Amino acid sequence: MNPFPENITSKLPKTGLSVFAVMSNMANEYNAINLSQGFPDFECSPKLIELVSKYMKEGYNQYAPMAGVMKLREAIAEKTEDLYTASYNCETEITVTAGATQGIYTAISAFVKEEDEVIVFEPAYDSYVPAIKLNGGIPVCVPLKMPDYHIDWDEVRKLLNQRTKMIIINTPHNPTGSILTAKDMVQLEKITKNTDIIILSDEVYEHIIFDGYEHQSVCRYPSLAERSLVLCSFGKTFHNTGWKTGYCLAPENLMKEFRKVHQFIVFCSNTPIQHAIADFLKDKSYYEELGGFYQEKRDFFVNLVKNSRFKIVPCLGTYFQLLDYTGITDETEMEFAQRLIKENRIGSVPVSSFYNKPLNNNILRFCFAKKEETLEKAAEVLCKI
Ligand SMILES: Cc1ncc(COP(=O)(O)O)c(C=O)c1O
Repeated sequence: MNPFPENITSKLPKTGLSVFAVMSNMANEYNAINLSQGFPDFECSPKLIELVSKYMKEGYNQYAPMAGVMKLREAIAEKTEDLYTASYNCETEITVTAGATQGIYTAISAFVKEEDEVIVFEPAYDSYVPAIKLNGGIPVCVPLKMPDYHIDWDEVRKLLNQRTKMIIINTPHNPTGSILTAKDMVQLEKITKNTDIIILSDEVYEHIIFDGYEHQSVCRYPSLAERSLVLCSFGKTFHNTGWKTGYCLAPENLMKEFRKVHQFIVFCSNTPIQHAIADFLKDKSYYEELGGFYQEKRDFFVNLVKNSRFKIVPCLGTYFQLLDYTGITDETEMEFAQRLIKENRIGSVPVSSFYNKPLNNNILRFCFAKKEETLEKAAEVLCKI
């Protein structure tokens, strides 16, 4: 069939299928152990599933309020106050989203205009740059500095100008597992002081932080919080990424603009799930213990692969472990990741694909949000390479 219309100008000419989908499809095709995409291979709490069914059976099946079910917004306000001593008004400063990705797109779309510049630290979660471009903005990509993927704040300061509309930060950081410290936040405060720069703070891994470190939410810093939109995800916290439920926190003036766009992108998110999560959030132990839960998984996996030929890159948060294969081959990350699937039946993600222009550092990302038996099988394969 001849394509019609014939001349389509793509809005994202260089974008193909996301690397996660590519690697996951390939892992399925070759029946490989899939540590590529970031999702658990274990179930979420049966209690949460029961709660969703309960609310469905009770008839909570129509549109939720645009900003989210009120009792969920109240629970989010309480959690944020408890964790970060920050107060967000549930009427005007909290919006439930269909996952963090929708919230990120909405936030960018609400504020970034033609020719506005947005600072993005690379490697970066893959939705930021396309969202900026789709809205006519210009991504200004700043590499995180090796070996620990830290931010060079002097470099960032030099890049700021009248057109800088937004800075996107992400801590704990996907894909590197690095975290921002209190010192980083002070630097961010300094460089944004007396500017109109908006901060988009992607905190989907807020509870998945290890080794006694505390998550540095922008909410803890009033002078940052007043210019920030914070995005969180229940999918990461409650092991149900497929439910696509998250939320945005922002001061009223920013939230007003966010909601103007949110209502036309999705209007509202899934009603019974919002009711269920509101009830489930009453048990704080679940998210309070999440860091310990994943730290055990990280340690289990790292212990198993520490004597392999891969070099372990320290991971302080998220559920991703980077492994450096410099001692093994000089193939590019994509070549090696594909060969690992085809020949060794193990799926990972090349970190080069988290850069706007792929940068090869001989590092692959492995997701350890998996059952012990999956991690054991994966480590056995990795140790033979
Ligand atoms: C850094 C980061 N932000 C946002 C998301 C998306 O979260 P959600 O599934 O709630 O859209 C992910 C998911 O992998 C992520 O790693």
